[in-house]
Amino acid sequence: MSERPPELPEPFKIKMVQKIRLHPREKRKELAEKSGYNVFMLKAEDVFIDLLTDSGTSAMSDHQWAGMIDTNQAYAGSQSFYSLENAMKDIFGFKHFVPVHQGRAAENILFSTIVFPGSYVPNNMHFDTTEANILRNEGTPVNLAIEDAYDTSKVSAFKGNMDTKKLDQFIREKTPSKIPLIMVTVTNNSAGGQPVSMQNVKEISAIAKKHNIAFFIDACRFAENCYFVKQREEGYKGKSIKEIARELFSYADGCTFSAKKEALTNIGGMLCTNNDELFEKLKNLTIVVEGFTTYGGLACRELEAMAIGLYEAIDEEYQAYRHRQIEYLASLLRAGGVPIVEPPGGHAVFVDAKEFLPHIPAEQFPAQALTVQLYIESGVRGVEIGSSCFGKTDEKGRLIPARMELVRLAIPRRAYTDNHLKYVAECLIRLYRKRNQIVGLKRVYAPRLLGHFTARFEPVA
Ligand code: F0G
Repeated sequence: MSERPPELPEPFKIKMVQKIRLHPREKRKELAEKSGYNVFMLKAEDVFIDLLTDSGTSAMSDHQWAGMIDTNQAYAGSQSFYSLENAMKDIFGFKHFVPVHQGRAAENILFSTIVFPGSYVPNNMHFDTTEANILRNEGTPVNLAIEDAYDTSKVSAFKGNMDTKKLDQFIREKTPSKIPLIMVTVTNNSAGGQPVSMQNVKEISAIAKKHNIAFFIDACRFAENCYFVKQREEGYKGKSIKEIARELFSYADGCTFSAKKEALTNIGGMLCTNNDELFEKLKNLTIVVEGFTTYGGLACRELEAMAIGLYEAIDEEYQAYRHRQIEYLASLLRAGGVPIVEPPGGHAVFVDAKEFLPHIPAEQFPAQALTVQLYIESGVRGVEIGSSCFGKTDEKGRLIPARMELVRLAIPRRAYTDNHLKYVAECLIRLYRKRNQIVGLKRVYAPRLLGHFTARFEPVA
């Protein structure tokens, strides 16, 4: 009888550690109250396990740190710029690029250049910063995800996909002249880190070409998406992640990229395109708002760390470990009865707060209430992806709730062990057993754009 080989553990060992501490419950309760029941307002040192985001929170490798020290610092033409250019051309394959300090800087430069008042930008699902950067330029962000994306319990392979029929219809209705670009976000963060299939990207690209509209990929988590394609899509098993990535990007005219995710760095981003004329404009605006085009608002050492990190992100063993760890957390929560978005995504496990707290209506921000209660209960910080983040208000100031109320437990890359995640799961399961005691929140303050970062709440009496 052939035995199954053991599952490979983490393909790295720990070289440096950072102490974390858990405050007593009473103190956490007090801190939650002081934060206005908004975990963005907590000090990181008051958090025990920080699953707020996978962005800028990766543990960098010894090679990245060594590269940072080894590279020179120059205003123009540093060697690290060329390292990054080589990595971008090798993995992404675009003709032109500028480094930028993070993803939203790329969005700002791109949208300020091509989005105009009255225009529309379709996406599978916009992230909050792409949405806000489009609104800022008086365009309208439009989400055209497939219906399955909103069905949290439905298990299917590519729930991140865009509904291409809806896209085609939308373009015909609004006319191509009103649509400066189409985007697709890989993986689809707002829908649970769900992957987008290569087939879907191909179809979106064909529609964009047919209507002569630019097509850009929001590529924050491209390697996790490519790993899903390798695992789940017919015809990709034998391909490397790099080959899959090259194919993915070959369908697009460009991409925005936050290196804080899958270049495994703490800061950085890129804006890439094949379009010479557009690049000329993007380049010039980059110089005005970010810095010269060979450093883009970053120290050169950051460029070097990005160049090295991009290769570490497309490493198969690393991706296998990454996906296995997320599935591990999902499996513990599932076994404990906690409702999560199925299947789990590539960077996070999303808890379905509507199912978890059916007694709290959307107007009382169930996902925010759960996020705060999880902190009080365990010192674990997740993040609300629900009506505080994506809800709108009507002309009378009433909340138009988001379609989903999720609490995202984002897993920083290479930073936490399975034991940390076991603790998270145990605390959340304990909280689930006493979910009836959790009360809703009243929002007492929120600015118009990206309001969730600084919103304040009070418990409903
Ligand atoms: N697009 C997506 C899909 C994102 O998830 C993010 C950031 C951005 C764009 C913007 O990139 O932060 O480098 O400016 N997401 C982080 C998160 C903040 O927690 O999901 P950025």
